[in-house]
Amino acid sequence: MSSIEKTDSTFAEIFAAHTGKVSDKWQSYIPAYESLFAEFRDKRIALLEIGIQNGGSLEIYANYFANAEIIIGCDINPKCRLLDYGPGIEVVIGNCTADETRRKITALSPSFDIIIDDGSHVSNDVIVAFLRYFSLVRPGGIYVIEDLHTSYWQQWQGGLFHKKSSIAFLKLLVDAINSEHWGIGESISDLLAAEFPEYRALFSERVLRTIKSVNFANSMCVIRKTGDDAPNALGPHVVKGSEAVVEQSIKALDGMAQIKVDERQNPASDFGHRTIDASGAGAGVPDRDRQKTGNLTIAAIMPVYNGERFLREAIQSVLDQTVYPHEFVIVDDGSTDGSCVIIEEMSRKYPITLIKREKNSGQSASRNFAIKQCKSDLIALIDQDDRWYPNHLDGLLEPFRKFRGGLPLGWVYSDFDDIDEQGLVIARSFINRQTLQNPKRDLVQFLAQGAVTQPSATLISRAAFDAVGGFDENLSGFEDEDLFLRMFRANYDNAYIAHPLSQWRIYDSSYGATYRLAKSQRYYIRKIMTQFPDDKWRGIYYVRDVIAPRFVMTWALMYVRAGRYKNYALMREYAWDIWALIPHLRILRRIALTIVFPILLWPRAGDLLLKAAAKCWRWTSWIRRLKYLATARL
Ligand SMILES: C[S@@+](CC[C@H](N)C(=O)[O-])C[C@H]1O[C@@H](n2cnc3c(N)ncnc32)[C@H](O)[C@@H]1O
Repeated sequence: MSSIEKTDSTFAEIFAAHTGKVSDKWQSYIPAYESLFAEFRDKRIALLEIGIQNGGSLEIYANYFANAEIIIGCDINPKCRLLDYGPGIEVVIGNCTADETRRKITALSPSFDIIIDDGSHVSNDVIVAFLRYFSLVRPGGIYVIEDLHTSYWQQWQGGLFHKKSSIAFLKLLVDAINSEHWGIGESISDLLAAEFPEYRALFSERVLRTIKSVNFANSMCVIRKTGDDAPNALGPHVVKGSEAVVEQSIKALDGMAQIKVDERQNPASDFGHRTIDASGAGAGVPDRDRQKTGNLTIAAIMPVYNGERFLREAIQSVLDQTVYPHEFVIVDDGSTDGSCVIIEEMSRKYPITLIKREKNSGQSASRNFAIKQCKSDLIALIDQDDRWYPNHLDGLLEPFRKFRGGLPLGWVYSDFDDIDEQGLVIARSFINRQTLQNPKRDLVQFLAQGAVTQPSATLISRAAFDAVGGFDENLSGFEDEDLFLRMFRANYDNAYIAHPLSQWRIYDSSYGATYRLAKSQRYYIRKIMTQFPDDKWRGIYYVRDVIAPRFVMTWALMYVRAGRYKNYALMREYAWDIWALIPHLRILRRIALTIVFPILLWPRAGDLLLKAAAKCWRWTSWIRRLKYLATARL
């Protein structure tokens, strides 16, 4: 049973004389609480402590605050149910970060004068608890976080330079209370979201603006809420006295507000300036790198889904860039393998922002989500299994640096090399080995050849990306072609770098990936057939002469590949995909394919047929080549 005695003793005296349930506090906290609690002592306060363990602290608070309205303790440990108190003290069992627990607490008291977080001390819990419970602090009340020394320890998601530690978060609140002086038009939520996008849903600008002060002491932070009558504002000059022998003009300032400043041109206040330094030695882009980027900021974006196999190499290739990206965001799209562990480990050493998404939502949705969190001018995509050469960003930046007006540049892409699972080169210059139109100049060629690039080989203008509405989230394959096609149509130019700046890893992908690609391809074909119907007036038959023939070929290739794995079900599926395109072809092709279609439904025969057709194709191209040589000699 609880031993609560009403007394006039000081907090230190009550603590020293306490005999009941055990409480464990550090020595320096006792005088700190002495001065913090004094103003609340005689009031009808409500107090919440997160993390109570043996529950002694609740008894001590109850003894000290004789007029308390309610004292609530919350603990995740079900054994705390055993704690038995008299009236005025309540215990809620549950994880403080869970909705359910917050509901139970607010059912007992909707607001508090004092909240003390002495819970798990793990950075994520400390931050989430603050964001969920600070709104419950009454005007003029305080939110105390104990044991912040853990934010310097790895096991508690910390480290001296850890970007996601509780201390790193709380330091930002110091900027938050000074937001009226930033002069850049950004909100406090913007600032927090720039560094901690994973908590964006918990930010309330209204609540964040009620932070009055942030005081740090050894292992402790006290965040005070503004009073109803005293919002957080610097207020006007208050000038008193009559003798101003040094600076006369000061007398005129009395009653004047601070001049509104405009710091939007200040590179040191630029949001893009804040994040990345691949050396890991703190925030901010070194000046020499700003010069290299021509003052353009770059965000590297990597969506990850069960990519543990090649992930380290991909991340390292970003960190090894000769021009550092200013932001590096990795989205874990609901991986069930060890991807997250790898990213977390690397983000402890390097300035990487990890966004975790519980449910797998596809790479287009992940990329869109990550890009929304970034402020940079340019977006550099990289896939989890690809690698950038160290001069990748430097090379792709060149056309953006040189841009001097005219049609705005939407995207720049480069050639790339093919590598295998071991990371060994299969072939150099994928794009240059083919006869393609680069950069893209005309719609028919674009539709006929495709984008023929890889997301990892591109650098995209953020303005153009936003203007066309980002990636189509229905696509998981062809999403880059679809995006660039829309940019092309919306009057954005593109540039091509004719040497390889990255490596594309080609390997036997899973059934899941093949299935997603085929599904995406079906959607994409429908989309572009609707977007670009045959144009009889111009005599350009987009569907009949360009789209349908191209994708009949693609399905046929996929059919042959499925044949190599003897996946007959898949072969039949692709045969039906070809069937769906037959009505859109020219009459002769229609007739020919309608005749051979039944053979395709019989996969072994279909496979032989397509291989024979491929051989014929090779022969005819030889004949064409020989003819060319003959005419050339003439
Ligand atoms: C340091 S002890 C609390 C000590 C106590 N305040 C005192 O003064 O003696 C930390 C307590 O936090 C609890 N805890 C840890 N994670 C929690 C969470 N997510 N929600 C609520 N309580 C949590 C633990 O069960 C533990 O009892």
